[in-house]
Amino acid sequence: GNDTLPLVNIQGDILVGMKKQKELFVFFHINNATAFKSVLKTYAATNITSISTLLSAPSAQPLAFVNLAFSQAGMTALGVTDDIGDSVFTAGQFSDASALGDDTSNWESAFQGTNIDGVFLIGSDEDTITAQYQADLETKLGDAWTVVYNLTSSVRPDDEAGHEHFGYLDGISNPTITGFGDALPGQSVVDPGIILANRTGDPVSSRPSWALDGSFLVFRKLKQLVPEFNKWTLDNAIQNSAGNLTTEEGATLLGARMFGRWKSGAPIDLSPDADNSTLGTDPELNNNFNYIHTGSDLTTDESRCPFSAHVRKTNPRDLEAQGLLTDLNHAIRAGTPYGPEVTDAESSSNTTQTDRGLAFVEYQSVISNGFRTQQLIWANNANFPFNKSESIGLDPVIGQGTRITYGLSETNYSESYSVTQFVVSNGGEYFFSPSITALVETFAA
Ligand code: HEM
Repeated sequence: GNDTLPLVNIQGDILVGMKKQKELFVFFHINNATAFKSVLKTYAATNITSISTLLSAPSAQPLAFVNLAFSQAGMTALGVTDDIGDSVFTAGQFSDASALGDDTSNWESAFQGTNIDGVFLIGSDEDTITAQYQADLETKLGDAWTVVYNLTSSVRPDDEAGHEHFGYLDGISNPTITGFGDALPGQSVVDPGIILANRTGDPVSSRPSWALDGSFLVFRKLKQLVPEFNKWTLDNAIQNSAGNLTTEEGATLLGARMFGRWKSGAPIDLSPDADNSTLGTDPELNNNFNYIHTGSDLTTDESRCPFSAHVRKTNPRDLEAQGLLTDLNHAIRAGTPYGPEVTDAESSSNTTQTDRGLAFVEYQSVISNGFRTQQLIWANNANFPFNKSESIGLDPVIGQGTRITYGLSETNYSESYSVTQFVVSNGGEYFFSPSITALVETFAA
């Protein structure tokens, strides 16, 4: 799949991410399609940020980056009635909630139902600038729309920059697509059509032509119970085979085995006994592993990494290296943390008092192959990864259902852990992020 990609025409967040300090999500409902379209026509042509702009010199860049995606309800409202070929998208995320294992009583009311027609993603280094961009949209769109819900996310401060709220470096492992730059060691390279609609490798062949270079954006507001997570890892602190860890060290090891990476980002598959921040932060090193080691039995050996670890559940590299899985299930993540830092009062009471978590964003050409396989078929499935002869259990970070997990102990893989649910879905929506020409010529037409 060596397609020549028109980088000026593809929304930037899809392949590159906003790479800004702040990201504002503006979820909206369309009240007047005709008025909305007339604004969209000029706005999209000049203000929607492409990959080219994201990669251009900072002096050539606008103060804020803007991307735009529509739900099925929004497409219908705009009269875009072609079947885009993704039944999960068409039904909307609310109707998928119970299949995903969500408790919809935890959903933000804005996401309950199909009231959200679209979302603007506004990225910049200052909250004041993202707010100005929203105000500008409000002025231009007037009564044509209603903002239903806002979520502000931001990079965490100082040394925590790039880390999600539990403290682990995020955004390390994403696939890249053929023809878009060089791959880093260990990085998956997939056909463009795994991420972009109508490109080489898109498993769906019947989409409308305007879908070319668009991508499905899965949005989820995932609340994280950080003090509770910290308490649980301390209460369940594990030992290494030498038996010489303090409780703190045992809690740190347990957390690393739940994620498959240490807080620095270092993969436990490469550094099973201790964190190594040089390994964690070096892009030439921190993704170069596949769980396969000479002399180790892939069906039973969890000495380095549990089969249930979050990164192993959501990207079972050994299965792919063995040819037991194709690369169909890769997707590109572009989420950012929302909410304030944990306060002393929250730490000392081990109780979350203020909402914080992950504004989860993931792009793929087929939602059922990407996000939905990772969450539902893998994380929530006690028997995945297959071809193992140990009990596995759920992904201890994001698995939903009966949260029993095995393999966390380094000395007894069959010990079972009943893991508190630290990540609570507050709902979300499935969107399509079209090419810029599709926004102008189809969505605004
Ligand atoms: C990787 C945290 C939700 C899919 C990671 C990493 C962290 C992390 C720390 C390692 C960094 C990296 O490899 O880039 C979280 C947290 C979540 C969350 C705190 C919830 C609040 C999800 C969800 C999915 C997902 C809902 C999909 C259903 C992945 C994938 C990887 C990953 C595919 C890369 C695995 C690899 O290639 O090795 N996550 N995640 N995550 N996560 Fe999550």
